[in-house]
Amino acid sequence: MEKILVTGANGFVGQELVQVLTQRGHSVIATGKGPTRLAVETNGVRYVAADITHPFELQAIIESEKPTAIVHCAAMSQVDECEQKQKEAHNINVEATARLVLDAEEHNCFFLFVSTDFVFDGEKGMYTEEDDLNPISWYGQTKLEAEAIVQTAEVPWAIVRTCLVYGNAYSHGRSTIFSWLRDNLKAGRHCKVVDDQFRTPTYVNDLAIGIALVLEQRKTGIWHISGEEVFTPYRMGLAIAEMGGWDAGLMERVTAASFTQPGKRPAKTGFDIQKAKKELGYQPRSFSQVAAQLLAG
Ligand SMILES: NC(=O)c1ccc[n+]([C@@H]2O[C@H](COP(=O)([O-])OP(=O)(O)OC[C@H]3O[C@@H](n4cnc5c(N)ncnc54)[C@H](OP(=O)(O)O)[C@@H]3O)[C@@H](O)[C@H]2O)c1
Repeated sequence: MEKILVTGANGFVGQELVQVLTQRGHSVIATGKGPTRLAVETNGVRYVAADITHPFELQAIIESEKPTAIVHCAAMSQVDECEQKQKEAHNINVEATARLVLDAEEHNCFFLFVSTDFVFDGEKGMYTEEDDLNPISWYGQTKLEAEAIVQTAEVPWAIVRTCLVYGNAYSHGRSTIFSWLRDNLKAGRHCKVVDDQFRTPTYVNDLAIGIALVLEQRKTGIWHISGEEVFTPYRMGLAIAEMGGWDAGLMERVTAASFTQPGKRPAKTGFDIQKAKKELGYQPRSFSQVAAQLLAG
């Protein structure tokens, strides 16, 4: 058991991670912007409000709490928002990460950074940890720069890249691709769904377990943690419609080009997760297994 500080604990991944880490017996200092939005605060969790762009707030928490590891999930995570607020995105995603790495060094904490498939250009797909990075969005660019800083850390570090994370809508948060598709289909609402963006969608609970495995085994370096089946959002929708007994015809199959969005999305990402399977013992569940569970709940 150890004491782990999590940033971005109010977010989609952060909320799940806090729950999984405490279930695994760790003590968690959950940090987020403003008041807590954690659905459940169990015994092992303490929430502390901290803005990662503030020069000293996290430093003070780390100083007093003395965590053994930091998992850095906080980010400006929306591609279009990053494109439109480039300076702010850089401040949150890059400069705050650099400060947090210094804090980790000062207090000798293992540092785990959560990154994204958007560091790739989407030409090749099924990326390994060794593939060349070439982001096509400002979001991806900021995550690439943050990754580069993490790699200079003078404490053991890990970068966990993940891809199209899904699950139920989370406490006080946005919908996820899964909950959006399910809710539209269930309500009989027409929706436009992209069929030319290929990903290996990641169940949020699998991701949280993957992060815990890296932490607990003190594995360093870069790790690709995602599902292992390739889907487009449209094909996820087809599977959900079939399992839920809903009309797949409600979905209009479209291409990404039919949307005008400020930030570009890579066409074909998805991860080769062989390294995580062999070296961490990571095993994601299949999409149909997770979907059945989420639809039943
Ligand atoms: N979800 C995905 O599909 C996906 C895929 C690849 C990688 N990732 C990465 O996974 C990590 C978690 O993503 P997510 O999906 O959980 O995103 P999220 O729900 O947007 O969570 C990010 C959290 O960071 C917080 N944050 C932003 N600025 C902050 C600041 N200045 N100080 C403190 N906290 C701040 C946000 O707070 P507020 O909620 O208050 O704004 C939010 O709770 C991110 O690093 C993201 O890049 C996610």
